[in-house]
Amino acid sequence: MFNIEQFDIKLNTDLIGRNFIYTDEIDSTNVGLLDKENKININGTVLLAEKQTKGRGRKDRVWYSKKDQNLTFSILISGEKYIKKNLNYINFGTSLAIAMSIENLYQLKTDLKWPNDVLINGKKVCGILIESVSEGSSIKKLVIGIGLNVNQTAFEGSFAIEPTSIKLESNQNIERERLLAEILNIFEEQYNRINDEPEKVLNDWRQRCRMIGERVSIIEGENSKYGIFDDIDENGYLLLRVKDKIERIHFGDVSLR
Ligand code: BTN
Repeated sequence: MFNIEQFDIKLNTDLIGRNFIYTDEIDSTNVGLLDKENKININGTVLLAEKQTKGRGRKDRVWYSKKDQNLTFSILISGEKYIKKNLNYINFGTSLAIAMSIENLYQLKTDLKWPNDVLINGKKVCGILIESVSEGSSIKKLVIGIGLNVNQTAFEGSFAIEPTSIKLESNQNIERERLLAEILNIFEEQYNRINDEPEKVLNDWRQRCRMIGERVSIIEGENSKYGIFDDIDENGYLLLRVKDKIERIHFGDVSLR
C-alpha cells in the first residue's frame, strides 16, 4: 500500500503532484487524465495507480506492471501557458529526471536510450509515453505517462529490451513514496529548465546516452537502417551517419549493432 502522507512530506514542488490522485485500479493512468468525462483539469495533477488493466506502451504496445510493486503514474500539464512547444525536450527532461532520481537515491548508473527509455546495465527499467489533446493546432493538455519498475523481481512475456527493476539492480527493497517524491521534485526543475535553458537539458541527456558515437540499427516497422549514432539535433531528432550523409530519424527503436 502506497502511503500518501510519507510521499507528501518529501514532495517539494510548487505545482507538480500537489493535486495527487491515488487509485487501486484503472485501465490506464494516461487515459484517466486524457478522458474528458473525468473532468481532471488541474495543472500538475499526478494520477498513480497500483494496477493498470490496459497499460499503454509506445507504438501500441502493452505496458505490464505487477500490482502494488512499481510506480505507474501520469502527470497532467494543462493550460497553454505551461505547455512547452518542443515535445521532444519533454521526453528528454522526463527521462533525465528519472535517471537523476535513481542515481541520487540508489547510486546506480543509468543509461538513456533515445527517445525516452531509462536503462540500468543495458536493461529497461522505465518507459515513458507522452500523449496530448489538441484543438486545432494548439495543444490543450499534455499527459506524461511513466512506468517505472521498482520492486518487481520477475517479468513474464517477451520484450523488445530485457526488463529490470531498481530492486533487482540494487538488491534492496525500495520505498516508493520517497522515490516518487524525488522524481516529481526533479521533474519540476527539469520542466522549468526546458524553457530557460533547453540546450543544457539536452546536454545533460546526451551525457547519459552511451549510444552516441556507436554503430546502431534503427528499426521502424518493416524498415531497418544502419549507421553511426552521430548526435541529437536541436529538435530532438536522432542524427544517423550513413556513409558520408547524415539522416534525421524521427521515430524508431534504436539498438547497438
Ligand atoms: C513504453 O512503451 O516504453 C512506454 C510505457 C509507458 C507506460 C506508462 S505506465 C503509466 C502510463 N499509463 C499508461 O497506460 N502508460 C504509461
